[in-house]
Amino acid sequence: MAGAIKGVHQIGDGARSHSGAAPVSLAAAADIAVPTEAARRRTFAIISHPDAGKTTLTEKFLLYAGAVVEAGAVKARAGHRRAKSDWMEIEQRRGISITSTVLQFTYRDHVVNLLDTPGHRDFSEDTYRVLAAADAAVMILDVAKGVEAQTLKLFEVCRARSLPVLTFLNKYDRPGRDPLELLDEIEALIGLHPTPVTWPVGVAGNFRGVLDRRDGSFVRYRRTAHGATAALEERLEPGRAAGEEGSAWHQAQEASHLLDEVGATLDESSFRAGESSPLFVGSALTNFGVRHVLDAIVDLVPPASPRADAEGHLRPLGAPFAGFVFKIQANMDPGHRDHLAFVRVCSGRFVRGMTLVHEPSGRLFATKYAMSIFGSERDTIDLAYPGDVVGLVNASGLQIGDTLYEREPVVFPPIATFAPELFATARPRDTGRHKQFDRGLAQLEREGVVQVLRDPDGDPVPMLAAVGAMQFEVFAHRLEHEFGAQAHLTPAPYKAARRTDRRTRERLRDVRGARIVQRADGTLLALFESSFHAQRLEHDHPDWCLDPVLSAGDRVS
Ligand code: G4P
Repeated sequence: MAGAIKGVHQIGDGARSHSGAAPVSLAAAADIAVPTEAARRRTFAIISHPDAGKTTLTEKFLLYAGAVVEAGAVKARAGHRRAKSDWMEIEQRRGISITSTVLQFTYRDHVVNLLDTPGHRDFSEDTYRVLAAADAAVMILDVAKGVEAQTLKLFEVCRARSLPVLTFLNKYDRPGRDPLELLDEIEALIGLHPTPVTWPVGVAGNFRGVLDRRDGSFVRYRRTAHGATAALEERLEPGRAAGEEGSAWHQAQEASHLLDEVGATLDESSFRAGESSPLFVGSALTNFGVRHVLDAIVDLVPPASPRADAEGHLRPLGAPFAGFVFKIQANMDPGHRDHLAFVRVCSGRFVRGMTLVHEPSGRLFATKYAMSIFGSERDTIDLAYPGDVVGLVNASGLQIGDTLYEREPVVFPPIATFAPELFATARPRDTGRHKQFDRGLAQLEREGVVQVLRDPDGDPVPMLAAVGAMQFEVFAHRLEHEFGAQAHLTPAPYKAARRTDRRTRERLRDVRGARIVQRADGTLLALFESSFHAQRLEHDHPDWCLDPVLSAGDRVS
């Protein structure tokens, strides 16, 4: 990839310079203060329904950051990735993205890390893990569709993490819904208070530009051929805008006054608390409004900041290196059959080759093979700072949520798992291939593709648990294509899961329709054939342990 996209992941043989322009030596980089580098980092994920414009907007970010000269590269690269990968056949068939990757580029002397998330509710758990590594999210909504039911779960996941969320109302070049109505919808369905920073001038379909509510000016755009280069932009003061745009301008101003009256104005502290969402309108296709969002990422998204450890103590940015694993992926590319761990840097300076301590095992972990990852493409990464993501190769001993640190011990909190809603027992179709089946099951469990539940009383048939049905599909596909074992999945009648303990387990022995299973980490779960049943028991026996939170951390469902 190096060379194809200027400024993206070109850490290469030398670290990037402070300005991101030319490589500097590692010795010189060592003089750069870690907190200064952290302050330049903006790490965020895009959350959107498939087709809302995530790929297009990503590409336009690169265009405006000067990382590509003409838009078109990301799509081409995404196509390349799909053509190359193994289990991505499902992605291609369904038009969704399952794998997550990380894109890094510089903009206005800041280093922007964009973490990709699967765009489908069935992979909400995966999204949740990626969001653990992000400092903010950009939510894209198609102006014609608004908040789509299928995606609601992803947005809820964002809310559960109290992440700051920027909203982009996309596709304004086409006929769409009334933006005021969309604001109500965001507030009602997601519980986020939208605070428009820009407002459309001209109705969707005849979109002229935006009213910038920060100074009342009009930003008028003219599109370029196929939106391949930046839109031509002109800033007009309100008097001239009124003269040239007439009623379209007056309507935008009226809407803006109305928004002032109801208090829908930018408020940085509630944005940082994950309560309000600065909203921008535009069209990723024609590049209208794209620069505003990118500027907001630099100006509003919090920089990488000290992270709390499992006991709630903040690890200073300048402390020795520490980070946590938020994603594990094996066999991403048939050409590299390996285990990759994605690590979010939380403190200190990562220098490739350093030896780290792995918590909880206490074993040493060598980082000779550290990579930046975008799809199936990888570049060696030599240096990274808080906010960055490092891909560690040959990481078969690492698990999601594990901490890696240098010198000063730290343990970051575990990443919560979701209460699964779908269950199926899994057996190998061909009993002669049970070894391959077991190996695949263990690996896919480690990656969090599905949760694997076992009977503590001896039934050897494992039960798979998932949030969405497509997780089972990915499981079966990968088991067959990567491990050579076909699975026979039989739906199990359970609908709800609760974390429980040994004492409650004894009580539940006499309860019809309840079943006790255990996860690999030892957690006991009680499964119920209806959520109602679980709720009734919670109500009737407040002293029993029936916790909808499946691991330490926050409640997500
Ligand atoms: P995704 O990654 O969220 O799934 O969405 P993606 O960017 O691939 O966009 C989905 C479709 O919506 C694409 O059309 C894309 O061109 C279109 N699109 C994205 N942003 C805008 C916009 O601002 N205005 C309009 N009118 N369309 C937009 P496609 O026909 O599926 O693909 P393509 O042939 O254009 O590549």
